[in-house]
Amino acid sequence: MPRTLDRLPFDVLFCIASSLTFDDIVSLSLTCRQLRLLLNEGTLCRRTIETHVSYSKEAKLAQEKKITYRDAVQRIYERREAFAKASPSSASILGHGSAFLYKQGILCYISGSSIRVVDIHASSSAPRTIELSPIISSVVSAGLADGKISLLSYSDEILALHYERKAKSVDNWLLAISTKADTPDAERLVTKIELESSSKLFARNNASFLYYGTHSGVGTHGHHEWRIDGVSLDAEHAIPAGTPPLQLENFVGSDMGSTVAFEIHDNYFYALSNQTSFDVEEVDWTSFYHCVRFPLERTSSNAPETNDRIYRRQHAEGPINDSWTDMSMQADESTNALTIVESRREWKDGGSQQTRTFYTQEITFPPSSTPCSQTSSPAVGPSAGPALPPDDPFVALLASDNNAHWAPTQRRYERFTHPEYGPDLNDPARAFILARTKLRAYNLSCRSFIDFVEDDKCCSGKPIYAAPCLRLRIGSRRLGPALPDDYEQPQPQPAVSSKGKEPLRYEVPPLLPSSKSAPEDCFDYAPITMWPPPANACPCAARLHGILNPPLPAGSAYGKTLVGVVDERSLVYMLRPARSYGDDDAGGPIVLISFDRAIGRVRTGEEGANDGVDSVMGDGGSEIQIRSRWVAGRAEACRDGTCC
Ligand SMILES: *[C@@H]1O[C@H](CO)[C@@H](O)[C@H](O)[C@H]1NC(C)=O
Ligand SMILES: *[C@@H]1O[C@H](CO)[C@@H](O)[C@H](O)[C@H]1NC(C)=O
Ligand SMILES: *[C@@H]1O[C@H](CO)[C@@H](O)[C@H](O)[C@H]1NC(C)=O
Ligand SMILES: *[C@@H]1O[C@H](CO)[C@@H](O)[C@H](O)[C@H]1NC(C)=O
Repeated sequence: MPRTLDRLPFDVLFCIASSLTFDDIVSLSLTCRQLRLLLNEGTLCRRTIETHVSYSKEAKLAQEKKITYRDAVQRIYERREAFAKASPSSASILGHGSAFLYKQGILCYISGSSIRVVDIHASSSAPRTIELSPIISSVVSAGLADGKISLLSYSDEILALHYERKAKSVDNWLLAISTKADTPDAERLVTKIELESSSKLFARNNASFLYYGTHSGVGTHGHHEWRIDGVSLDAEHAIPAGTPPLQLENFVGSDMGSTVAFEIHDNYFYALSNQTSFDVEEVDWTSFYHCVRFPLERTSSNAPETNDRIYRRQHAEGPINDSWTDMSMQADESTNALTIVESRREWKDGGSQQTRTFYTQEITFPPSSTPCSQTSSPAVGPSAGPALPPDDPFVALLASDNNAHWAPTQRRYERFTHPEYGPDLNDPARAFILARTKLRAYNLSCRSFIDFVEDDKCCSGKPIYAAPCLRLRIGSRRLGPALPDDYEQPQPQPAVSSKGKEPLRYEVPPLLPSSKSAPEDCFDYAPITMWPPPANACPCAARLHGILNPPLPAGSAYGKTLVGVVDERSLVYMLRPARSYGDDDAGGPIVLISFDRAIGRVRTGEEGANDGVDSVMGDGGSEIQIRSRWVAGRAEACRDGTCC
């Protein structure tokens, strides 16, 4: 009798499934009814979540018993699929504001003289409004109207914002406000800090600490350097009084998101730069990242840890078109490891074609026993160890003050290298110029890049959408089989058995063609997909275009700017008229595109009948309105034109 997978005892199946990847487990359960039962089994689902995505939001919800582990598996699978295939489940206009932040599923935006806080991931909680005027006037004598507010960071129900007097360099404050429900307005202000400088001010926080930095220090070499300072936000945590601000010495770069990035992760503050020296060396070989971290519970005695030898690239790999560089740090949903994600557009090997590649690299620090973490200069000079290439004629040309960097070329594993058009560059997808690419992001957990582009070909000919339409452009890849589909399994050779009495023994063929090299992950690349379809495809698509391209206030004929934030399940963006001088408060609509079916739901009371219900969320007293909303319907309905 043939042994089939579904006949195996459950314990054996469980063991097999435990060693599969997340996608494989779900795919397996979709193959037949018997294996579907696999996923109905709570222990397996729990095991799957805990091994593969234990740091996801769904894992947390399941741990707290708010959803079952089975639902968690389903939700993660669906949202990742939806993301990777550019097939969102809903789109809505959430409101109108002049600035916003979006993190941990919470949207905070400025609307007039107040801040609205909306939990997008949990449609059941009521939006909150926090009036700014009383808070500001408790800090400065000038009022809200005399100053300018910018939002700096949000996390764990703490919002950090910057207040600055208009056109005067007095009253420069960093404020932390609690956004918790049921906090009396008088207790909203958690802390206030008067700033000496607000040059390139940024902030990062968790519930207990607020860290902020300005590009206002001056190094011994005369270049500006970042100064980082922090305060504790609650009574249980403290930074000892008198701890001086930390100046990040020899930490180069001032452009957030392209040359530097800052993040709080677990119990540390991390700073990342794509450069290791201020000067451009005439002769140089290798580029390294420079990463610094220190514990949030900082004391003046513990020096930050530094690693300025995180391999980035060889200069010989070709020039980079800097306009396209994006750099961030993202936590891995399965390991929680903080990872550098950098996208670079390069002329590979000096060729004439520019290609964009998304590189990922885990952040590590040498064990703390190595003393290099303290005072040593970050550039490992020629004197420090094996830092020069052997047999390179340029070595002879090095002047003594040269800070050349060199490391042997490291192999680029496919796992850490995601080319935009796949490895063969044969995806015929359209490319967009930078000026038309309004937002770029890469998501590690979905293995997808996302561009939000202005497409002037999409709806041309339709007078109502004469302006270019905003569309998603997503490319993704997934872990493929370790061996290519056309890999021919070598025919097992029967071991010599002349008499035919002994059972035949087979040589086990090697699993990989060459067992010498470490097994490389292989990836299947999905074609780059654009969404939504043109407005004339079906009534739904036409409505969608209306939501994604909401009309801007009258008189904004001079183009528009877009700011957006992407996380693993949604994209939130705000459109506003291109800067009109003197009136920087002109806000614009805030739009949510969601890949997670469980979010962006309006409580209409008619779950199920959700093909493009247009509804207004008017839950008692709350002012947030979902003004316009589209929910993915059935594809057939779109095809017959009956979807809306
Ligand atoms: C914030 O960081 C501190 C120090 O690392 C930690 O003890 C605390 O649990 C963190 N708070 C949250 C909500 O993560
Ligand atoms: C770091 O990024 C900036 C901006 O993209 C670029 O100008 C600079 O050359 C990069 N540094 C290195 C060492 O590649
Ligand atoms: C780099 O990219 C920008 C934006 O796409 C483009 O305008 C510029 O011409 C590119 N630089 C070069 C040298 O090709
Ligand atoms: C990508 O997904 C991670 C989860 O792994 C999420 O925390 C992050 O915000 C997302 N970032 C972007 C830029 O999509």
